[in-house]
Amino acid sequence: MAIEIEARGLSLVYSIRGAKNGRNDKNGKVSGTLTALENVNLAVREGEFLSLVGPSGCGKSTFLYILAGLIKKTSGSILIGGKEVNGPALDRGIIMQAYALFPWRTVQKNVEFGLEVKKVPRAERAGIARGYIELVGLGEFSDRYPFELSGGMKQRIAIARALAYNPDVLLMDEPFAAVDEQTRGALHEELLRIWEETQKTIIFVTHSIDEAIFLSDRVAVMTPGPGTVRKIVDIKLARPRASEIRTSAEFAKYRREIWQLLQNRTDRTEAVVTETCILESEPQEAVI
Ligand SMILES: Nc1ncnc2c1ncn2[C@@H]1O[C@H](COP(=O)(O)OP(=O)(O)OP(=O)(O)O)[C@@H](O)[C@H]1O
Ligand SMILES: [Mg+2]
Repeated sequence: MAIEIEARGLSLVYSIRGAKNGRNDKNGKVSGTLTALENVNLAVREGEFLSLVGPSGCGKSTFLYILAGLIKKTSGSILIGGKEVNGPALDRGIIMQAYALFPWRTVQKNVEFGLEVKKVPRAERAGIARGYIELVGLGEFSDRYPFELSGGMKQRIAIARALAYNPDVLLMDEPFAAVDEQTRGALHEELLRIWEETQKTIIFVTHSIDEAIFLSDRVAVMTPGPGTVRKIVDIKLARPRASEIRTSAEFAKYRREIWQLLQNRTDRTEAVVTETCILESEPQEAVI
């Protein structure tokens, strides 16, 4: 399958405000910059579901923001559909770490937003938006405002809004972190159903190893900041995935492998994947 997203030697250095107060860079010098990503190499296939896991502050959101075109890389390259990312565009939908609905717009009008930007005629965009609101199971709520919805419902609307303008790629930053366990389980199944139906390429950031395994084709494990890809684990669990799979021995094996990678340990007898990963650089040594 074709490669949809490719990062090659991607690095991102933030300038730190008030740098005169000092910060230690990786050479131990006080500096006014912070290297959030360093030499990230990652290729994501068309229609693939890839999760990114890694410790807080390792640069996961930064990576998504670069892909979304919201911030500019410092060096290296980042390609979507073979083209260098150069600012935001409607071929990508981003679902942020915090709910980012427009509070002054109803559910229906929130979902229509991207279609308005694309200048889709009023009647057509109303119909498309209704379809996606139905798809996420919130048909009855289209006239409500975000404050009238629960956290899980807002997240479903954020997903509908991103899907409505039909991007090729969905970038999801911890979208289910703030919802309860039971709702999260239902959202996982719903997201997989939508993904299978729409065949989007998804990059999904999460702190939950189980969530990453359950959803993904592959899980990219990152090092602590400056973040880089330590290893990519191929999840060979059959699809469609039913929730019972979470208690299987195979699932536990993946959980153990990813946990060990996050702890910077590898157990060779348990290694599930090496040959199929598209990892260009060797896993790096670092302590989490
Ligand atoms: N605008 C900014 N200016 C300066 N430094 C920043 C900025 N945004 C993020 N950082 C720093 O870059 C690093 C990576 O941040 P990022 O938000 O990408 O991490 P993350 O992996 O998404 O973390 P989390 O899991 O907590 O969401 C952190 O050290 C953070 O402090
Ligand atoms: Mg983040």
